[in-house]
Amino acid sequence: MIVYFNSKFLHKDDVKISPFDRAFLFADGAYEALRSYNQKLFRLEDHLKRFEHSLNELSIPFSDFNNLEIIAGELAKKNNINSEYSVYMQISRGISFPRTHHFVNNITPNVFAFVKPIADNRKQVEEGVSVILEKDLRWLRCDIKSTSVLPAVMASQKAFLSGAFEAVLYRNNLITEGSHTSFFAVKNNILYTTPLSNYILNGITRKVVLELCKENQIEFSEENIRTDELKSYDEFFITGTTTEVTPIIKIDDWFVNNGKPGKVTKDIQRLFNFYTKNY
Ligand SMILES: Cc1ncc(COP(=O)(O)O)c(C=O)c1O
Repeated sequence: MIVYFNSKFLHKDDVKISPFDRAFLFADGAYEALRSYNQKLFRLEDHLKRFEHSLNELSIPFSDFNNLEIIAGELAKKNNINSEYSVYMQISRGISFPRTHHFVNNITPNVFAFVKPIADNRKQVEEGVSVILEKDLRWLRCDIKSTSVLPAVMASQKAFLSGAFEAVLYRNNLITEGSHTSFFAVKNNILYTTPLSNYILNGITRKVVLELCKENQIEFSEENIRTDELKSYDEFFITGTTTEVTPIIKIDDWFVNNGKPGKVTKDIQRLFNFYTKNY
């Protein structure tokens, strides 16, 4: 696999990074995950804007955003990927020695990227997935897509070990989002999703779904969903760049809608698929 590292395209085994890179020592970095539709990066501007937000909030100096699309395209070419692909881009603050929590501003960031073919998710998208509910143990700046995601890793691993696709997180009885997805509920044909704040990531797929709702006169409300009121909702789904619009058919031991994807969820999927197919 050919990857990108600091202006070079290298075999993945040839990348050398100092253990004093602050992402290694402190998870001091930010990342983005994108995908292509029709070989074109989906909502690139939104992803770059979010990347810029994350880096600005962390005071990591980087401005070469225009180059990232070219890098992704080159990576797809160099790896002979002719299918749709996902892109991972990470920028760490860089190397500082000796190890101190504080940093100075003249460090050169380390830029890393790789692409891989999109995995086949048709089964999950068509049949739906099960999720578990987990306490949200993350920090209070989840709007920053930081590489520091250990609580999400722990929740996701718990889901994986219990055979679930995702861990849906809650804070003080309110659903925030999935460990790596945004969360939606449906009641009486109205969509509900957690309002944007420092408690969740500004999901690009979430944004697209809300845009599609607006264009198609589907009512929605950005308001909190309580864990103790989950059973009053008719349907649930999660969204994400590679997860797309995936129905939830089971939450812990509860089979939602008799274990079948809901009607409104299917409608949203159809709109989303049409949008991405023609992107
Ligand atoms: C915590 C979290 N929420 C939501 C999402 C979904 O965001 P997007 O639709 O931009 O992929 C992600 C994606 O990685 C995530 O990590």
